[in-house]
Amino acid sequence: MILLDGKQTALHIQQDIAESVAKRVEQGLRPPHLAAMLVGEDAPSLAYVNQKVKACKRVGFESSLIPYPVEVSQQELIEKIRSINEDPQIDGLIVQLPLPDHIDVVQITETISPEKDVDGFHPINVGRMAKNLPAYISATPLGILKLLEHYQIETQGKHCVVLGRSDIVGSPMSILMSRKSKIGNCTVTICHSRTPDLKEHTLQADILIVALGKTELVKKDMVKPGAIVIDVGINRVEDASKKRGYRLVGDVAFAEVSEVASHITPVPGGVGPMTVTGLLYNTLLSAEKKIYS
Ligand code: GUN
Repeated sequence: MILLDGKQTALHIQQDIAESVAKRVEQGLRPPHLAAMLVGEDAPSLAYVNQKVKACKRVGFESSLIPYPVEVSQQELIEKIRSINEDPQIDGLIVQLPLPDHIDVVQITETISPEKDVDGFHPINVGRMAKNLPAYISATPLGILKLLEHYQIETQGKHCVVLGRSDIVGSPMSILMSRKSKIGNCTVTICHSRTPDLKEHTLQADILIVALGKTELVKKDMVKPGAIVIDVGINRVEDASKKRGYRLVGDVAFAEVSEVASHITPVPGGVGPMTVTGLLYNTLLSAEKKIYS
């Protein structure tokens, strides 16, 4: 079994990003700048945004974390997004999800300028991605593509089964794996909460991508021997032996599935660091005007 080490791969790609930043600065250009808006105090969201800000520092980006209380109005967020859209010093803008119920996430997503939408959530970027045109690809699917590429995994002609149809991961992942592209050209099946028999499908998978948010749902008997398993789940499980009181567990029962998979991502240290890397990569593309020129 080969461990798909997202932490090491992320550091490797981030090193390349840092070198590109250093070159820009040598040429007298400013470093890329990412702005992140965070509403409320949801603990996982705060942890993710802090990881993003830390990664920006590591590669030499500027970053601005803009926190809001949970009661912030839709209008205040929209006004801030519009002002960042116009700010020539900022290359990328993300609004951390989930947002509180009184906020219209669709309107927020559509207010971010597609040129600065480094999360790749704007319908223009999603549409361009689906049409295989230059676009910001959302960070988690992009990170997974880069992980598969780094480990030189052949995807062409393989059967890829995606568990989950979320806007952020499952849906774009299924499109990307079927696209005519170096990492792609798969036959793709998407399964979701209304799929009657998950196992019937997962056993067909040469590449199994799991993004359901259900702790250790995928067991050994659901995985074809030799399959490549990508676990997108990050679930908190109470654990009194840990200082913080919990540990992180994926959607895949890692220990037992490792016995049958040919390649597998750990949790933590698999897809998570690659997501952050995908975001950095998009922000660099934005600063270099590589998508919308
Ligand atoms: N919440 C969970 N994943 C993401 C992500 O990739 N971007 C944003 N903005 N929010 C998220």
